[in-house]
Amino acid sequence: MTATDEPVTAIDEPVTATDEPAAPALARLYDLDLAEDPGDLDLYLSIARRTGGPVLELAVGTGRLAVPIAEAGYEVTGVDIDPAMLDRARQRLAAGSPAARRQLNLVEGDILGLRLPAAGTFNLCFLALNTLLLLGRQDAQREAVRTMAAHLAPGGLAVVDAWLPDADDLVRLDGRIVLEYVRTEPDTGLTITKAASAQHDAVSQQVTLTTIYEQSSQGAPARRWVQVDRLRLVSADELTRFAEDAGLEIEQVAGSYDLSALGPTSDRAILIATRP
Ligand SMILES: C[S@@+](CC[C@H](N)C(=O)[O-])C[C@H]1O[C@@H](n2cnc3c(N)ncnc32)[C@H](O)[C@@H]1O
Repeated sequence: MTATDEPVTAIDEPVTATDEPAAPALARLYDLDLAEDPGDLDLYLSIARRTGGPVLELAVGTGRLAVPIAEAGYEVTGVDIDPAMLDRARQRLAAGSPAARRQLNLVEGDILGLRLPAAGTFNLCFLALNTLLLLGRQDAQREAVRTMAAHLAPGGLAVVDAWLPDADDLVRLDGRIVLEYVRTEPDTGLTITKAASAQHDAVSQQVTLTTIYEQSSQGAPARRWVQVDRLRLVSADELTRFAEDAGLEIEQVAGSYDLSALGPTSDRAILIATRP
């Protein structure tokens, strides 16, 4: 689930044949994280209405966006590096309509260096929900935007969504452990407690994010999953430069999913750029 080489570990009893390995558990827990809807689907649906398909979602994850976009009638390709995330996306797709199953093609692959056979034909390519930050390094982030440009048809749109923490947010990223939630997982009935610690390094613009999930159910031993991601923050200006370096023309940098203008209090940058 992470683009870095950081460890993803389960730290409790030794894993037995009946125990769930870390990758599927973390894919499942990703969906629990997003039980609180980020509210970005309407943005991608409205841009897909404008561009038409085919649509490419890089880092498709568990299909949270790609499946409903396929349900809406667009031909979608979703690429992800993590087979466990893709398995969850397939399960989501299997529960969807037969039309969506025909419309969505899931591909295992790395954004970095990706060139699908259909490169150059997509009318919309997007990188949602801070995935650019998850790539962890500036050169990787620049390359990801190049990958987007290489897959667009002339006139096609690239959309990138990146978190913009403000000064107060950054002060809080000092390594303290924060309880994020206690939730019951709908599918399993397990109680999941999520805590996280984030440490910001102002020089490298990196944030080391350690997430600890503890899952418990009555009569079963608790399990704990620890995931470490190294994010690299980007400014709206830097995001714009990545797009320009990739040969894209900037149409808009918005500050929220309703595409209102980017301002000093915006907590995200949504870049929309066209391939000439
Ligand atoms: C924050 S999730 C976003 C998932 C989905 N786009 C969404 O909005 O729900 C980030 C996803 O990026 C994937 N990912 C990270 N690095 C990647 C890479 N280099 N190539 C392809 N996928 C990558 C992870 O496996 C994960 O599924």
